[in-house]
Amino acid sequence: MTKKLIAGNWKMNGNLADNAALMGAVVAGLPSAEALEAAQVSVLVCVPAPYLAQVAALRGPVDLGAQDVSPQKGGAYTGEVSPAMLKDFGTRFVIVGHSERRQNHFETNELVALKAQNSLAHGLTPIVCVGETLAQREAGETEAVVKRQLAAVIHVNGHCLTELVVAYEPVWAIGTGKTATPEQAQAVHAVIRTQLQAASSNAKRIPILYGGSMNASNAAALLAQPDIDGGLIGGAALKAADFLQIVAAAQAVA
Ligand code: PGA
Repeated sequence: MTKKLIAGNWKMNGNLADNAALMGAVVAGLPSAEALEAAQVSVLVCVPAPYLAQVAALRGPVDLGAQDVSPQKGGAYTGEVSPAMLKDFGTRFVIVGHSERRQNHFETNELVALKAQNSLAHGLTPIVCVGETLAQREAGETEAVVKRQLAAVIHVNGHCLTELVVAYEPVWAIGTGKTATPEQAQAVHAVIRTQLQAASSNAKRIPILYGGSMNASNAAALLAQPDIDGGLIGGAALKAADFLQIVAAAQAVA
């Protein structure tokens, strides 16, 4: 039985009232913590930083994650949030290098690697996102791009790779309704697994999530692929019924 991780990425959505309603419905619809554990499924929501305290109090068996973190420990870095601050609210995971941050905030592979390193140093599990744009895929560069993104992270964090989660998120599939087929996703996941294996003998234990328009109807086929260990879910994580169906799909294939 392979462990599956179903992670919601709320992005910059939500408010106090909507978050309470969403978490209430998700927690009410989830199996118990024991049943999830028996099915080897973990559920996580990555929420905007201002709502970490709110969601921490409502989370039930759902783990708490953030969407970004500073590469610095603390000090004169206006607007940044340190790993220690995230941990103060019971946060266990943090997304680093999401393509929206790479694109909109010009995050480089090296910066992403430092954010992963800072997270690990403070006991947070980084979910490192990698993935190619449509132009890169069409130019046949998918493998090279993904390998380059991951190599920077491996270079800096090679000694604790098994503490990482990797998410393959083809940029062309994010928020577009265009999902990678299970075969397309598996092909890239296999490349990632091989790259991790070259750096760590325990690479099988590193969860590799798929993200990009995963939803209630395509989750089962994606999660059935041998190297797809879960999902990073944007839009469908904002609807309790859809998110719960993805969790159920993970339970069925785990
Ligand atoms: P999406 O987003 O599920 O809305 O495509 C996924 C992500 O960006 O993490």
